[in-house]
Amino acid sequence: MKKLLVLTGGGDCPGLNAVIRGIVKAARYEGKWEVYGSMEAFNGVFKDPVDIVKLTKKKVGGIHVKGGTILKTTNRGNPFKFPVQLKDGTWKTIDRSKELVGKIKKLGFDAVVNIGGDGSQTISQTLFENGLNIVGVPKTIDNDLHATDLTFGFTTAVQTATDSFDRLVTTAESHHRVMIMEVMGRDAGWIALHTAIAGGAEVCLIPEIPCKLENILKRIRKRYRKGKGFCNIVISEGAKIEGGEVITINKKEEGEEHIKLGGVGNYLRSELEKAGCEPQIRTTILGHTQRGGTPVAFDRVLASSMGIKAFELVEAGEFGKMVSFQNHKLVSVPIKEAISKYDVVDKNHYLINTARKLGISFGD
Ligand code: F6P
Repeated sequence: MKKLLVLTGGGDCPGLNAVIRGIVKAARYEGKWEVYGSMEAFNGVFKDPVDIVKLTKKKVGGIHVKGGTILKTTNRGNPFKFPVQLKDGTWKTIDRSKELVGKIKKLGFDAVVNIGGDGSQTISQTLFENGLNIVGVPKTIDNDLHATDLTFGFTTAVQTATDSFDRLVTTAESHHRVMIMEVMGRDAGWIALHTAIAGGAEVCLIPEIPCKLENILKRIRKRYRKGKGFCNIVISEGAKIEGGEVITINKKEEGEEHIKLGGVGNYLRSELEKAGCEPQIRTTILGHTQRGGTPVAFDRVLASSMGIKAFELVEAGEFGKMVSFQNHKLVSVPIKEAISKYDVVDKNHYLINTARKLGISFGD
């Protein structure tokens, strides 16, 4: 029997378990591979003794409906920049990639499937260049990974955000308030854009479109003038209000992939108040609720299919490739292509036109 190692890296996302189950089922169907999972990304391989579990039929039974990942994950597990704590309590990063590739081979693994976003796939590509037989599966609720039309988890995140938005509309209406809802989206405003259209927002602020406070205020006032005594705003965590900076929670910890964003919704509220916005304003930050919970049916289907496809790529020896969903087909693309840039919202995208003609202001 050949041995396949599977792991989930970076932030979690609804649908990860469905991918894992898909890989295990495809391997059982084919009959020549045993599948194992490394716990907490590559940390399971680094550990002594290793923390690697055999993924049996029983272990993956019914997990496709569950959020999170049975393999756990970390965003501080980059083998090329592995964080280690020194005796004085400070941290530094070291390159443990050679040790990792050597250990994976010594453990008898013939191939690896890395399920993760841009950070994880950048690691996949470099490990591939270092001689590892690796296949990538794209994951992010932000839907900003290049070379795939969609990532699983995105549709669930949009549904979660839309459900929350709907709730905020009714309370906004009762109190004649302006409600600001902050959603995830570091570099790309896909979640905000879809939620604004689905929910019927008045204002949608995304990282790709620079906005001006005076334009947002104008839109709010127009809304109240028309007799609609409430207003709903969706803002991406990575959006910038003209003159301001991207709002971060704290600085990046050693070995972490990204600086933590959050709080731009509150910043917008205080700027609007300072600018004399008449109605009361409240902010809701959805945060990780968008990453948690049960995947919607569409994401279960997409993630399961991606798991099957990932195994097929392994079987065919198509290493250095990532599963991709393009024009309603599952294909493979070089991982290198997927990590070459972010898929951000193009100003000419049809959804921008849709939103504008529905009366949604981008504050530009
Ligand atoms: O990349 C996906 C994402 O959901 C971003 O939108 C968000 O900024 C980030 O993850 C949060 O990551 P963490 O769980 O490390 O705070």
